[in-house]
Amino acid sequence: MPRCDLLFRDALLIHGNGESGVTGDLAVSGDRIVALGALTGWSGGREIDARGLVLAPGFIDAHTHDDRALLGPPAALACKLSQGVTTVIVGNCGVSLAPLSLDHRPIAPLDLLGDERWWTFDSFAAYATHLDAHPPAVNALAFVGHISLRVRVMGDDVFRPARPKECAEMRSLLAAALAEGAAGFSSGLAYPPARAATTEEVIAIGEPLARHGGLYVTHMRDEESGVMASIEEAAAIGRTIGCPVVISHHKCALPENFGRSRETLALIDRTAGQGDVHLDAYPYAASSTALLVELLRDDIPVQITWSLPHPSAAGRMLDEIAREWAVPPIEAARRLQPAGAVYFSMDEQDVRRILAHPRTAIGSDGLPHDQRPHPRLWGSFPRVLGHYARDLGLFPLEVAIHKMTGLSASIFGLADRGVLREGAYADLVLFDPASIADRATFTEPELPAEGIREVWVNGRSAYTAKGGVVPDPAGRLLRRRPQG
Ligand code: ZN
Ligand code: CU
Repeated sequence: MPRCDLLFRDALLIHGNGESGVTGDLAVSGDRIVALGALTGWSGGREIDARGLVLAPGFIDAHTHDDRALLGPPAALACKLSQGVTTVIVGNCGVSLAPLSLDHRPIAPLDLLGDERWWTFDSFAAYATHLDAHPPAVNALAFVGHISLRVRVMGDDVFRPARPKECAEMRSLLAAALAEGAAGFSSGLAYPPARAATTEEVIAIGEPLARHGGLYVTHMRDEESGVMASIEEAAAIGRTIGCPVVISHHKCALPENFGRSRETLALIDRTAGQGDVHLDAYPYAASSTALLVELLRDDIPVQITWSLPHPSAAGRMLDEIAREWAVPPIEAARRLQPAGAVYFSMDEQDVRRILAHPRTAIGSDGLPHDQRPHPRLWGSFPRVLGHYARDLGLFPLEVAIHKMTGLSASIFGLADRGVLREGAYADLVLFDPASIADRATFTEPELPAEGIREVWVNGRSAYTAKGGVVPDPAGRLLRRRPQG
């Protein structure tokens, strides 16, 4: 009689490849799925009656800023595990903890990962070695950020294009990181410390990506009126380097651009014909980043997520604070800095169109160290499954799951993950499709989702609805396997 460690009986198995679910059993031994189908005659060290529940591959959060959260105790990743997330992609938007050590508070947006105490990894190898020795509660794949490289090489003199010598130095730092296990290169060209970088600078630094099978992921130069030119730029960078491209948290921000996702998605489809181009998105019509005065406009409501000099401002609307202080909002924003904010700057129809696009993976862009974070940190995955797939019928459940499992694994080259298959890693989530829902809101942003029963990382229970995060971390730093 075949035996396994963990046996699920009569689950609705949704495999992660986009195909609809089938009722069946699934067996796990060690860190792998060892069998699935009708497993009559099998027995397990632990058996779970999964009737009425979905068993799916653990979700992959395609866009995060969890570089530092991975260093904390397992409970620091409750925001991920409580949504069914078992793998996070870190080092996005040009911001990565490695390779950079600092003796003073970094400029925005690097400070979204914390002050100088957190910037101690001089090389990617140092970060990777630390995670190998102190495993995180979820798996992670890490990128190297352009802004981190710029600050490392240019110091605080980053508001200008890099000189050829500096580009060469950044290129060799990236090449070393790729050799040490980094998945690729991320940029945040919209941010002040990277805005002066030319397309040629990005290409010059990113050149080793082709040889190492790395990806270029980008928070584009312009997600507003210049969004089309920015997509062209991202695609051209990928074509010139010869590497796949991921457009991060795609959006068409500001009212004058509402509806333009029709054009942007058509352009992405055209460029994808000449190279490998994908995108990620989160399921909300509001963005969140540093509080930057140049992002302020009368027609865009702004909510403060944190403020160093005024912690009590977190959660409040900027115009309300400005009224209270009897100053214009721009002056209130100056006084709040350094600070973070939510910007209600998108159109719901664009959000839906982008989420539904076949090249779109789900990435939360959650900011785990904000005092009052955007609810995407705690709610993105259940919101796509519950609100968008089940309640609005934007796409079938199996398509929603594909966008957070198999699709993401194939974009990022994660071998044997994101799929239910014999031999694949047992990253699993068991949830109730009837009750799955996000509860986090802009007023109560840290409420865990409903409907997730249990989550396994590499075959080990990592989260249960009743007990929360299991204090015994089972995650790993993953290395990208280039797609053949
Ligand atoms: Zn970004
Ligand atoms: Cu981001």
